[in-house]
Amino acid sequence: MRPVQPGDMDDLYRICLLTADAGQDATRLYGDPKLPGHIWAAPYALFEPSLAFVAEDSQGVGGYVLAALDTAAFEQRLEQEWWPGLRARYPEPSAEMAADGVSGAERQAVHIIHHPWRSHRDLVQGYPSHMHIDLLPRMQGRGTGRQLIQTLSDALRAQRSRGLHLFVGDRNKRARGFYGHVGFTELPAVDVHIFVLDFTSSP
Ligand SMILES: CC(C)(COP(=O)(O)OP(=O)(O)OC[C@H]1O[C@@H](n2cnc3c(N)ncnc32)[C@H](O)[C@@H]1OP(=O)(O)O)[C@@H](O)C(=O)NCCC(=O)NCCS
Repeated sequence: MRPVQPGDMDDLYRICLLTADAGQDATRLYGDPKLPGHIWAAPYALFEPSLAFVAEDSQGVGGYVLAALDTAAFEQRLEQEWWPGLRARYPEPSAEMAADGVSGAERQAVHIIHHPWRSHRDLVQGYPSHMHIDLLPRMQGRGTGRQLIQTLSDALRAQRSRGLHLFVGDRNKRARGFYGHVGFTELPAVDVHIFVLDFTSSP
């Protein structure tokens, strides 16, 4: 486990694609393999490198945890420095895209680039930081996920974060079990699962 380095970017994009279908390989869903990483990986490593860690074995980088300390500030920064370039590169999805066989996942990703998710004020007040974690299958089930969460939590506490939140899709049952097991609490929510960690109490 080590902090992310600039040379890790291709691995982050690759791991993101290989886990973007509710934890499974999403390669078949994206004509452009970089789309998931543009949204859920690259900007974190670029803008919040002190909260980005990778897990590496003899085959290379096989997992990461990425986070933003202050979600509201991060969303503002993306609006100014990240989304405009991507919006110019990926035009707003149209009805023709579906007719052309562009997958729902790809259209949804491009939609997010044009209309990014804004976190709810109440959620970021209590839990201002948010994160993403993804491991390739060869690294799963060996305690690496737990270690990455611990490393990230230590870094967030050192940077005085009050708390951490994340969203999990309904289809990713395994991840939900994992978060519950490693200390996160699930908040009541409709259509999505929100897990939180409170850093205001002692570790
Ligand atoms: C979900 C993921 C991050 C978990 O990481 P991992 O390295 O496989 O999990 P670990 O081996 O560190 O497990 C840590 C603990 O959680 C437990 N655990 C793991 N999955 C669990 C589950 N579904 N239900 C209950 N407990 C679970 C383990 O038994 C282990 O317990 P222990 O430490 O008390 O022995 C990883 O499997 C992954 O990246 N999956 C694919 C991508 C993904 O789904 N990302 C999350 C998107 S929201």
